[in-house]
Amino acid sequence: MRHIKLLLLTLLVCGFWSCNQGGAVPPTSLTSPNEQIKIDFLLTEEGQPAYAVSFKGKTVVDTSTLGFDLRDMPALGKGMEIQTVDVSQFSETWEMPWGEQREVINNYKQMTVSLKETAAPNRMLNIIFKAYDDGIGFRYDFPAQAGLDTLIIMDELTQFQMTGDHRTWWHPADWDCYELQYYDTKISEIDTTGKKGDNTAGFTPEHAVNTPFTMKTSDGVYLSIHEANLTDYAGMTAKVDTANLLFTSDLVASRRYGWSVKRAVPFQTPWRTIQIADRAGDLIESNLIVNLNEPSVIEDMSWFEPTKYMGIWWEMHLGLNTWKYEGGQHGATTERAKTLIDYCAEKGFGAILVEGWNTGWERWIGFPDREGVFDFVTPYPDYDLKEVVRYGKEKGVGIIMHHETSAATQTYDKMRDSAFRMMQELGIRSVKTGYVGPIQPEGEYHHGQYMVNHYRRVLKDGAKYQVAINAHEPIKATGIRRTYPNAIAREGVRGQEFNAWANDGGNKTSHLPTVAFTRLLGGPLDYTPGAFLRKLEDFGKGHGRKLNDLNTTIGHEIALYVVINSPIQMICDLPEHIGNHPFLEFIQDVGVNWETTKALDGEPGDYVVIARNERGTDKWFVGAITDETGRDVEVKLDFLEPGKTYNAKIYGDGDNAHYETNPDDYEVSLQGDLTNESTIKLTLAPGGGAAISLLPAGE
Ligand code: NOJ
Ligand code: CA
Repeated sequence: MRHIKLLLLTLLVCGFWSCNQGGAVPPTSLTSPNEQIKIDFLLTEEGQPAYAVSFKGKTVVDTSTLGFDLRDMPALGKGMEIQTVDVSQFSETWEMPWGEQREVINNYKQMTVSLKETAAPNRMLNIIFKAYDDGIGFRYDFPAQAGLDTLIIMDELTQFQMTGDHRTWWHPADWDCYELQYYDTKISEIDTTGKKGDNTAGFTPEHAVNTPFTMKTSDGVYLSIHEANLTDYAGMTAKVDTANLLFTSDLVASRRYGWSVKRAVPFQTPWRTIQIADRAGDLIESNLIVNLNEPSVIEDMSWFEPTKYMGIWWEMHLGLNTWKYEGGQHGATTERAKTLIDYCAEKGFGAILVEGWNTGWERWIGFPDREGVFDFVTPYPDYDLKEVVRYGKEKGVGIIMHHETSAATQTYDKMRDSAFRMMQELGIRSVKTGYVGPIQPEGEYHHGQYMVNHYRRVLKDGAKYQVAINAHEPIKATGIRRTYPNAIAREGVRGQEFNAWANDGGNKTSHLPTVAFTRLLGGPLDYTPGAFLRKLEDFGKGHGRKLNDLNTTIGHEIALYVVINSPIQMICDLPEHIGNHPFLEFIQDVGVNWETTKALDGEPGDYVVIARNERGTDKWFVGAITDETGRDVEVKLDFLEPGKTYNAKIYGDGDNAHYETNPDDYEVSLQGDLTNESTIKLTLAPGGGAAISLLPAGE
């Protein structure tokens, strides 16, 4: 990995305000390198640290206070004075080993404000701010200090004071589930009552949202609040005070211990982040979240290759066969795996995921005691793991291991070493993990500190055994993939599977146009696209429930291979359902690893148009999707290399396509002689979409 450090400048303002006790301290500020974003730091009348943010001269976050509610000691926040203010600037370019772009510019100004309580117990706290051109980050830093060895945080009291009743795209803060519908309301109308995850016993605090959530001000400024580098800490959700348009951090707690975070001092919290842009697409192109993470600790990632994959998976969700061996409908057989390997080899797909291969599936979902049940090294009798791996190697198709832990974390911690060692011996390079059901030990939640640490241990073990992790029911993505590039993707969204069996119907038509500007700002997503069969209702019985229909067209589906950022993309449907559909050709052609990404157009919740250039080639791919409103979109090809001529193949909606009445209607068309001065006009049906492959003429 390449690190080019360009500039490091430090200015130390020592003790400047230390005599300024009593009364508010005037703001001290930091601007972004392009000077459009400004952070003001101040102390309130009560000596409490606070900040405000402006963009192009207008306040976008009004005075917001900072602090902590602690156990066994007074709250931390009021009665502080500034000791020092330290300002520096930093710039580097680093390289993503895989991902949505190759080179990332990391250019920011930093301000560290050192604070101390003026009265006993005279605790010290530093607040570190970073201002980038695409947003800001700040974190709390607890320095080593006498009398403060351990901190038990009941809650963090970070405010985000909004300046108006913005339109907001948000996801309820279920402490166990990150797989809910998104909502599009004003801040004053956020209401999470009763909005729990399907498949979860999780706790949903009243009127709290999970991050990232995105807002648009009446001046057309886009803001997205999230966190970066969530390490040894609890996930941050945001409680909403609808009357005062105020969000306050609400950390996921442990019911087992009655607190949110326990840490030895010194330590630093994750970054609290605010992405800021006046073009919605700039949120997608922003690198703020990864830049606020540490450089990679894995020297060589060449063992992981981005790929497309199929699976013995969707058939279980459609109710055609089962994960469990008992009952005579077992899906994961040697024979079925080989058939799928043959299909992938023929079509050029790199891997297959096999769920239900190992013993334990007779006692997973719904069983209160799940520790010691799943075995991650022992296959069922009708699945010859070694033979499947051997056959795959012969055909050039890899195996993606599957570890459903059923959230029995201690068993997985115990068995992981042998499971990963076995994978390394077999040459299996990635695993999809799963954490269905309430966490064991009881009282812990998927998004609390205990689980944040568990998921990190899995990544660390993966780094040791050259195993890449794609977690389902994960902790949200906060850019850890920069430090651990074996964190290749995670589901952690209301994924494709909800289209099969969710009690409240399939995903909304506006789901992915919203996810593109919210969840996907965190990092890669394994949505498992590629459902060719769109009307599932009369098809079969998924989990004994009535199946749903997909609320989008097949044109929308195909565009997801470009819209969704992930180095692994599934083709979830069965070869039998795909048949000779002409859209299969696009999935065969489309890249999974990118030189560069351009978010050309879009509005959260409405539509999005993204273009990506495949790494190491001249090929470009475009994906456009819309919500329930059909619309015409103009794709300006000004991203193409000047002087070069391209041919386009367009896979889109047919004239009569409609997500409700005619989701299968499609059209394939060709356009030639295209240059960087050309424009392609797309007509997207209601719930529709289109994908374009742009290949240099002559290739
Ligand atoms: C639940 C997940 O939602 C699903 O995708 C997966 O197939 C099963 N767990 C088994 O791991
Ligand atoms: Ca909409």
